[in-house]
Amino acid sequence: DRLARIAGIGSYLPDRILSNDDLAAMVDTSDSWIRERTGIRQRHIAPDGVTTADLAEQACRRALDDAGLTAEDVDLIVVATTTPDFTFPSVGTMLQARLGATKGAAFDVQAVCTGFVYALSVADNMIARGQAETALVVGAETMSRILDWTDRSTCVLFGDGAGAMVLTAGEPAGTEGADGVLATYLRSDGRFKDLLHVDGGPSSTGTVGHLRMIGNQVFRHAVTNIAESMTTIAGRAGVSIEEVDWFVPHQANQRILEGVARKLSIPTEKVISTVADHGNTSAASVPLAFDRAVQDGRIKRGDLVLMEALGGGFTWGAVLARF
Ligand code: ACO
Repeated sequence: DRLARIAGIGSYLPDRILSNDDLAAMVDTSDSWIRERTGIRQRHIAPDGVTTADLAEQACRRALDDAGLTAEDVDLIVVATTTPDFTFPSVGTMLQARLGATKGAAFDVQAVCTGFVYALSVADNMIARGQAETALVVGAETMSRILDWTDRSTCVLFGDGAGAMVLTAGEPAGTEGADGVLATYLRSDGRFKDLLHVDGGPSSTGTVGHLRMIGNQVFRHAVTNIAESMTTIAGRAGVSIEEVDWFVPHQANQRILEGVARKLSIPTEKVISTVADHGNTSAASVPLAFDRAVQDGRIKRGDLVLMEALGGGFTWGAVLARF
């Protein structure tokens, strides 16, 4: 097996910003409630006519530039999204055409907020087994399109955005100190649909539907399952939690980030948080946060980085990589 190296990273946010005060003019909420309960100060919203594929395309172009590669090099595109432009074709194949990639395969995976962790794991396995050489792994969402803008308990939480990584085939797995994806861990448990779901779809209602969540119950599962996935993946890779340089969590709520950090005695300086500025961008949140920490010089080449997420399904999991 071969390691999948993170050769480049890029992200993209639509310009339009929706502040907590803007939301307070739409539903019965306040800036102080949103900040105290979630840590969110603002979120980016894609203007009408701008789609998930549009955001994803920009993130992919930036990631390819960062890797010094072109679309001609790409032979795998895996897109994590729960808000695709169309029922089909996939955002993945749309990206192939837009970027000018003609080799290999492209498809979408659906694991809601855990989507990027799932997509990374899929691409890592395909590179490890020699089925692909250069992969674009993308998390892209327009969550604004599936929100009920009259429901204050959900509409204040989410935002739009996209992030992408380029993975390339690296050294043989097990090479001492080599960079790349070191371990992946995926879980799901389908019994919790009623706590977090979208109440529509092509085969049930024939509508797109709206996101529904019993937030305080999801919260409890989130802290427990995320902490479990982090200790499990560290164990699998044979490293301790203390040895991990950076934690890049899914950005659902600042209190979840802090709850997990407390549970595992992780110093909060090691936890990358963008929830204040981005809100919860579902599958896009991990690559958006990772990219910000690379851009501002925190995450450096050679650092050990643990990514984790929990989302609808429930799905949850983690990826450990040397950057
Ligand atoms: N403004 C003002 N008040 C509000 C708002 C709002 N925007 N939203 C809810 N409230 C009220 C509620 O009505 C409730 O009032 P009541 O006590 O009179 O009934 C009160 O605030 C407390 O509500 P809770 O839901 O108990 O608040 P909590 O502290 O749990 O915070 C939150 C809610 C932010 C949703 C939190 O539970 C959370 O972050 N949950 C986890 C979300 C998550 O991780 N999701 C998974 C990923 S998402 C995905 O996969 C798509």
